[in-house]
Amino acid sequence: MSLDRADIKAATKPHEQLALHLADGMGAVNDLIAQRMASEHAPRIPQVTAHLVDAGGKRLRPMLTLAAAELCGYSGPYHVHLAATVEFIHTATLLHDDVVDESAQRRGRPTANLLWDNKSSVLVGDYLFARAFQLMVEPGNLRVLEILSNAAATIAEGEVLQLTAAQDLRTDESIYLKVVRGKTAALFSAATEAGGVLAGATPAQVQALYDYGDALGIAFQIVDDLLDFEGDSKQTGKNIGDDFRERKLTLPVIKAVALADREERAFWSRTIEKGDQREGDLEHALALMQQHGTLAATRDEALAWADRAKSAMQALPDHPLRQMLTELADYVVARLR
Ligand code: IPE
Ligand code: IPE
Ligand code: MG
Ligand code: MG
Repeated sequence: MSLDRADIKAATKPHEQLALHLADGMGAVNDLIAQRMASEHAPRIPQVTAHLVDAGGKRLRPMLTLAAAELCGYSGPYHVHLAATVEFIHTATLLHDDVVDESAQRRGRPTANLLWDNKSSVLVGDYLFARAFQLMVEPGNLRVLEILSNAAATIAEGEVLQLTAAQDLRTDESIYLKVVRGKTAALFSAATEAGGVLAGATPAQVQALYDYGDALGIAFQIVDDLLDFEGDSKQTGKNIGDDFRERKLTLPVIKAVALADREERAFWSRTIEKGDQREGDLEHALALMQQHGTLAATRDEALAWADRAKSAMQALPDHPLRQMLTELADYVVARLR
């Protein structure tokens, strides 16, 4: 399929522009995903994977890998394998994450843990991880293998750190940043870095791609955490208020706890530490965060990370994809509106 410039221009949102520019590669990625998510031996596997994969998802991370490789001049076939790897790791972590978070909605559908059970989600998540490892070996590039396997370990560390930081009002912004860097940004930065390494990019370009993915991933997760309070579940495809119910200390809450007077601290202690949540508590939490301006302050931090992502792009070659990735950083924060 040839690139239709008019279509690309008409697509308003940066991730749609990226999707159009990368249409051929993403078609190949989606075919490879469909091929590798199947299983001849355990029918539960294609049931669960099809449920999640057919629901769509933004496919942001595989697009980052394809874009990074193309931007650095790659012309071989293996960026497709790496992009599929990244989406498999992502999908595996979503299956596990919805069990851990006891979530009921994902990509606008009931979660797999709700439709089937936790056991199926955990085991099919493991299967997808294993499929990801098979895929990441295929390009035969040790450095790429190192980047992606490190990311898988770092994501798990981030999720476990979050587990122990939840329900603990001593969780501060530096712990939050560690959690977010691990559970989310590690896959974004591996997605971009691996694409550049595969393409034989210079060390400075690889560093810039890493920095871009890291900052974009952090901005993305901060926004995801804001959307958990302020979003519209029709748009996010997830339930609102899950983080509060799960007693997670996300950035707007951490900032509100830091500014709390005695009475407010007692509220946070009851709802987050003790888990004694009542009707109207989510609304009260929101009111406190509004009153202290912590939702706006959190949004400013997301914007600052998006700016860092954009500056990192300046070290990369002049290319339409560089422009799209730069605009993607703005869009990640703009989806709040
Ligand atoms: C969800 O990621 C998990 C987070 C890191 C917040 P996405 O919002 O990219 O999920 P999909 O793939 O589009 O559903
Ligand atoms: C996202 O964690 C990170 C991973 C899935 C590893 P969250 O729990 O914040 O993401 P959502 O809101 O469920 O998508
Ligand atoms: Mg979750
Ligand atoms: Mg989670």
